[in-house]
Amino acid sequence: MIFGKPPTVTCTKMQTVPDVESILTLVGFFRPHSFLEIGINYGETAKMILDYASWMDRYVGIDVTEGYKTPLDAQRNEVPKIPGQMARGDSRLTLIVRPNGSVDVTPQEIGKVDMVLVDGDHSYEGVKRDTLLAESVVRNGGVILWHDYAYVTDVHLFIDERNNIRQRTCLIQGTNLCFEVIRE
Ligand SMILES: C[S@@+](CC[C@H](N)C(=O)[O-])C[C@H]1O[C@@H](n2cnc3c(N)ncnc32)[C@H](O)[C@@H]1O
Repeated sequence: MIFGKPPTVTCTKMQTVPDVESILTLVGFFRPHSFLEIGINYGETAKMILDYASWMDRYVGIDVTEGYKTPLDAQRNEVPKIPGQMARGDSRLTLIVRPNGSVDVTPQEIGKVDMVLVDGDHSYEGVKRDTLLAESVVRNGGVILWHDYAYVTDVHLFIDERNNIRQRTCLIQGTNLCFEVIRE
């Protein structure tokens, strides 16, 4: 826990409990009205965020179509058969599923959002590209979260390089989650 008391998370498939608790805590703290998740997978985290954030108006989830070959071999078995499946019943969700996922999506299609979770292609080039996309859609004063800092070397490298220049990215201790408040 980083601050406050997050809703109780019992178990998750794609994320660890401390990671999801931290995401929900940040959502509770920053109160985003709109959220973009790059790499929504089956929508497990999306559903937890949407169930918790009753004030949220819009949630955009991006993923790839079945059969997509991820640049990292280790991610090949993550590609979902039905992207966003668990959150599809929520009318606030807009799903964008494309053959190459976020590569095929323009900032205009997403619109401005208050918070972004970068959790798609974990290759160095993928995180870099998705961060550029995140920066182009997040509002001034909004927040970008990155998942898998501790697990994936490329994500780690990208965040460390970014932080060496800007020194604005925080790692939540005991989790794989980093975040940064984006201000001009
Ligand atoms: C680690 S999983 C994401 C877990 C999800 N965020 C959650 O919390 O449940 C990574 C996801 O990124 C997707 N992905 C890989 N490359 C992508 C791309 N270029 N654009 C969008 N999604 C991508 C994969 O298909 C997979 O669903």
